[in-house]
Amino acid sequence: MSDNILVNAAAGVAEIRFNRPDKKNAFTEAMYAAISAALEGAEADPAIRVILLSGEGGAFSAGNDLQDFMQSPPDLEDQVDASPVTRFMHALSTTRKVVVAAVQGPAVGVGATLLLHCDLVLAADNARLSFPFINLGLVPEFGSTLLLPQRIGYHQAAELTLLGEPVDAVTALRLGLVNRVVPQAELLETARGLSRKLAAKAPAALLLTKQLLKSGSGPLAGRIAEEAGHFARRLRTAEFREAATAFFEKRAPDFSKLN
Ligand code: COA
Repeated sequence: MSDNILVNAAAGVAEIRFNRPDKKNAFTEAMYAAISAALEGAEADPAIRVILLSGEGGAFSAGNDLQDFMQSPPDLEDQVDASPVTRFMHALSTTRKVVVAAVQGPAVGVGATLLLHCDLVLAADNARLSFPFINLGLVPEFGSTLLLPQRIGYHQAAELTLLGEPVDAVTALRLGLVNRVVPQAELLETARGLSRKLAAKAPAALLLTKQLLKSGSGPLAGRIAEEAGHFARRLRTAEFREAATAFFEKRAPDFSKLN
C-alpha cells in the first residue's frame, strides 16, 4: 500500500484518504493501484457498507499527475486490469458499496469526474471543481461526457467541459454536482457522521437501493472505454505536450502554431 493513500476501516466505513499534499494529491500510477486495491478490498468485505473518499492537506485531488502523463502515457485502451487507471475506474464505477466523497479545495480532472461515480458528495466551502481537459488538449474521461449532460443538462455540461473553468462550491451545489456545502473545518466530521449513518442502515436494502438507482446507466462502461481511447491518443499529441509543458513552466499554453 502506497503512503500516498491512507486506508482505515471502522464501524462499517472504509476511509480512503489521498495523501500527497505537496502535489495537491495528484494521482500517480502507484496511487491508482493503491486506491483500486482499497476499493476492491471494501467491495469484497461484507463488514464494509460505505466507502469514504477524502483528500489530505487542503485539496481533494489535482487529477492525474501530469509528469506521469508526459513521461509514460498509459495505454488506456487496455483491458480492465491492464493499467492502474482503468482498474481504478472499473473498481469505482462498479462498486456495489455506497460511496461518499468529502471534497475540499481543488478537485480537478479525474479528481472531479470521479465524483460523478460517488453516491453522496459533500463539499467544503472552499471546494473548486474543474474539468480542464480542453485546456490540456485532452478530452473528458471516466464517463463524464455521458454523465455530466445527464446530471446537469447539456448546456451546463458544455460550459464546464468546453471552457474548462473551475466552479466554486455554491455553483457546484446549484448545478447538482454536490449534495451539500459545509464549512471546511467541519467537512471531515460531517462526512464521517453521514457515512456512519449510512453504514447503520439495513445492509441488503442499502445495496439494493444503490443498485436500483444506478440501473439506468447501461452504456457507461462503453463510454468510459470510448473516451479512454481518445484520451490515450490525445496524450501523444503536440497539443497536450504544449499544455503540460506550459503548466510546469508556469505560463499560458500557446496553441496558435498548431493545426
Ligand atoms: N500533476 C503534477 N503535479 C501537479 C499537479 C498535477 N496534476 N497539480 C499540481 N501539481 C504540483 C505543482 O506542479 C506544484 O509543484 P511544485 O510545488 O513542485 O511547483 C504543486 O503541485 C502545487 O501546485 P500549485 O499549482 O502551486 O498549487 P495551486 O494551489 O496554485 O493550484 C491546482 C492547485 C490544482 C489548481 C493547480 O496545481 C492545477 O491546476 N494543477 C493541474 C491540474 C490538472 O490539470 N490536472 C490534470 C487534469 S487531466
